[in-house]
Order: sequence, then structure tokens, then C-alpha cells
Amino acid sequence: MIRHKLETAIDKRAAMLGADTDALRLVDGDGDELLGVYLDTLAGRWLVSTTAGELDPEVREWLMQEGAKGRTIYWKQLDQHEKTDPTHVAGPKQESAFMVRENGVAYQLSFQSGYSQGIFLDQRLNRKRVRSSSEKGTTVLNTFAYTGAFSVCAALGGATTTTLDLSQVYLDGARDNFAANKMNASDHYFCKGDTFHWLRRFARQGRSFDGIILDPPTFSRDDKGKVFRVEKDYGRLVSMARACLADDGWMLCCTNCRKLDLRDFTRMIQQAAPDAELTSLAMPEEYSAAPYLKSVWLNA
Ligand SMILES: C[S@@+](CC[C@H](N)C(=O)[O-])C[C@H]1O[C@@H](n2cnc3c(N)ncnc32)[C@H](O)[C@@H]1O
Repeated sequence: MIRHKLETAIDKRAAMLGADTDALRLVDGDGDELLGVYLDTLAGRWLVSTTAGELDPEVREWLMQEGAKGRTIYWKQLDQHEKTDPTHVAGPKQESAFMVRENGVAYQLSFQSGYSQGIFLDQRLNRKRVRSSSEKGTTVLNTFAYTGAFSVCAALGGATTTTLDLSQVYLDGARDNFAANKMNASDHYFCKGDTFHWLRRFARQGRSFDGIILDPPTFSRDDKGKVFRVEKDYGRLVSMARACLADDGWMLCCTNCRKLDLRDFTRMIQQAAPDAELTSLAMPEEYSAAPYLKSVWLNA
């Protein structure tokens, strides 16, 4: 039964894969009647994630058979306290970084980069929208940028981007992603540091951006140790970003905080930017389980 459900879920999404997109969610937990089991394909390699601390024996047996056919398969447990690398399960090991493509855009991933592999696949549609909204001659600020996937899309659309993250390792990954798409990273800006600090600084300097992306972690601390919690503080973040947004600019506001539903999330944004026009954006269709990622597009 489990094997049949896994194969049905994969077949259902097979037509979405091709030369332009080879990274995609193929199995989405209870959306495919496989509670707590998720599978992403990453240019032919599989990453299985489970809420359980070990693989179900039937799932493991099926993976071993797929691995015997030559498929690289790694596994990770979700919501771990310790952010470790995925574990090799079957097939050839992948011990170096590798490339995936999504809508023709290349991203560098790794199974040795800790808990996250270099891209959040659930942002597929938002990346596409950011690219189509980033015209030549505009400026886009990507806060909490991780490996800069949104920046790469905005730059491919024609914008000059500013990529902002606390981590130098992630900013280096963002530069690699620019290079992977044959763009010169030195035509763009990279800021290491705290988003709240930089937003205050940009506002003080009177700098504004035509597009801003806000996709913070559920919990964070600013450079002064002040705690940020999405469910309490997102409105404050939107107000600070709003102060750096051009008059007819756009903002993409996201959260995957499960404690916050779309209605409350939208209300927080509306209160922080009462004159703005808001549109909520759906998750990609391959995410068939409950839509945990909330995305609101703001037009100033
Ligand atoms: C959920 S990831 C963002 C994913 C990214 N938006 C994407 O789609 O690829 C959160 C990122 O925020 C960064 N971060 C956490 N707290 C921060 C802060 N106060 N200022 C800047 N970056 C922060 C982390 O280093 C991490 O890269």
C-alpha cells in the first residue's frame, strides 16, 4: 500500500519535471495519504524527510530498491533540534555540491550544508513572481536572504539587487548562485548583518527599493539581542520595510509559522501598511497537504 501511494504521488507530478525544472516536491505527506513522509527530487537525487525519527521499514525497502537502480537517496528527520546533514540511505553518495534547475534558473545545493540544502522548494511560484515583477532599472532588497534564490530571480528579471543575511556562508552561497546563472555578482550588493539594523539604516539614509522580500525565520534576534517572533512582531517588520519602499513599490511578505493563520497574518500586514493593496498567493500545486506557507503580495 505505502509503495503504491509513493509511486502514485510521483507519477502525478512527473509531467512537471523537464529540462527547465528538475527540483520539485514529489510526495507531500498527508496530501498524498502518507502522513509525515515527504520526498523532493533534486536533479535526480532524492531527499526524503520524515517527522518520525526513523524510516518506516516499507519506505526504507522501497528506497533501497530505488538506490540499487543507481538513484542517490538521502534522508533527514524534520524539526530536529540539532541541525545535522541528511543521512545517506541508498545509491551513490553525493559528497560534493551539485546543481538543480527551476524554471530555467540554476541553484547550487549540497547534502553537506546542514539541515537545509540550499533552496526552499515551496517558494517556487513566489520566485517566478519576483522575477516577472523585477524590471530593468529597478532595485530589489532581499532580506533574510539565505542563499539568495530570490535575488537571483530578481536580477534575472533585470533589477539591481541587495542581498541581506546574518550569515557570510549563505551570502557566499548567494554569490555562487549568481555565478551559476552567468551573472556578475559584483554588479549587485551583498550585506552581512541584521535585517532590522539595515532597514533602520536604509530608512535613515533615505534609501528606497522598488521591491522588498520579507521571508524571516519564525524566531530570530536582532543585533542588539531583541527577540523577533513572527506571530507577534511581523507587523513591526513590515512597518520598518515600508519605510524603505518606493512609492509604487511591491513587497513579498511570507511566513511558514504554523501558529499564524492567513487571516491573522494578512491583518498584521494591513495594520502596518493600511494604504497598501494586498493579495494572498497560493502555495504551489505539488504541495497537496495543508498550506503552511502564507504569502502576501503588497502593492504600495
Ligand atoms: C527561512 S531562511 C530564508 C529563506 C529565503 N528567503 C529563501 O527563500 O531562500 C532564513 C534566513 O534568515 C537569516 N536570518 C535569521 N535572522 C536574521 C536577521 N536578524 N537578519 C538577517 N538575516 C537573518 C538566516 O541566516 C537564514 O538564512
